[in-house]
Amino acid sequence: MDPVADFATDVRAGLGRAGQKELPAKYFYDAVGSALFDAISHLPEYGLTRADERLLRRNAGRIVERLPLPLDVAELGPGSGRKTRWLLRALVERQPTAYFPIEISRAALAACRRRFRRMRSLEVVGYQREFLDGVRKVAASRRGGRRLLVLFLGSTIGNFDRSEANEFLREIRACLAPGDALLLGTDLEKPVERLLAAYDDPQGVTAAFNRNVLARANRELGADFDVAAFEHMARYNEAERRIEMHLRASRTMTVRIPAAGLSIRLREGETIWTESSYKYAPDEPCRMALDAGFRSVGRWIDEEWGFSENLWLAA
Ligand code: AVI
Repeated sequence: MDPVADFATDVRAGLGRAGQKELPAKYFYDAVGSALFDAISHLPEYGLTRADERLLRRNAGRIVERLPLPLDVAELGPGSGRKTRWLLRALVERQPTAYFPIEISRAALAACRRRFRRMRSLEVVGYQREFLDGVRKVAASRRGGRRLLVLFLGSTIGNFDRSEANEFLREIRACLAPGDALLLGTDLEKPVERLLAAYDDPQGVTAAFNRNVLARANRELGADFDVAAFEHMARYNEAERRIEMHLRASRTMTVRIPAAGLSIRLREGETIWTESSYKYAPDEPCRMALDAGFRSVGRWIDEEWGFSENLWLAA
């Protein structure tokens, strides 16, 4: 795994094309981007992370009651593990637990290890890998007789296109054995004004988060993006039920990206599409479970923000 080479390859593919230019959202999360995302999660307009945590805090005991014990836990993209502590606490009260955070960010993995250093009866083994690769590795080295619970929280699934999300869930299922479980957090549809405020906050934190992907290309790939010449845009696509984030060039410019072997021309007003954030109807995850080879065994909804936690067992 060479993160800079992967970034260069994806930048070449996404910005070197003739039509709509794109950058994959996963490149937001270097150390600066992760810190900005953490700040977003505290914004009054962005209730998603708080809703996720509220559900886990209130329902950790009920979730654990529906799980086949003994089990160990793998988490895709835990960040610093803040939300996960409620579930892990409920689990270690019942059994010693191994916890496998899977993250591409080394800084996040280190923060996660620090957070759980002192939790009794918990062993933390981090994997700095892509999600599927990490789950395969964890599942292949499972300890005898123990089930696996995979956590995919925070509606990160919403950053995949719907068909990609279904395919991803099928691939997760293929790594698991019958009786293993998946807990999936999904952000629900809500009034457009509420969504737009969440993705275009008045303090400009989300704008800084969005622009950071260009600043990262400057830092890591030697690019010469004039970051201030890009305007943050968030819009709701009604047909697709997703927020789209773009960066719009405020003037015509040429940008060189040496490590990607690329020089691109952007017209004034042209955008780089940096993220989609899909929103779900409350019953949609149940259908996704069936499609991916799971059985839904629990759903908890936060009415204050509109967020659901969905517990599935591998069928
Ligand atoms: C991580 N992910 C679920 C966030 C979202 O809401 O799509 C990332 C984010 N983008 C802008 N604000 C937050």
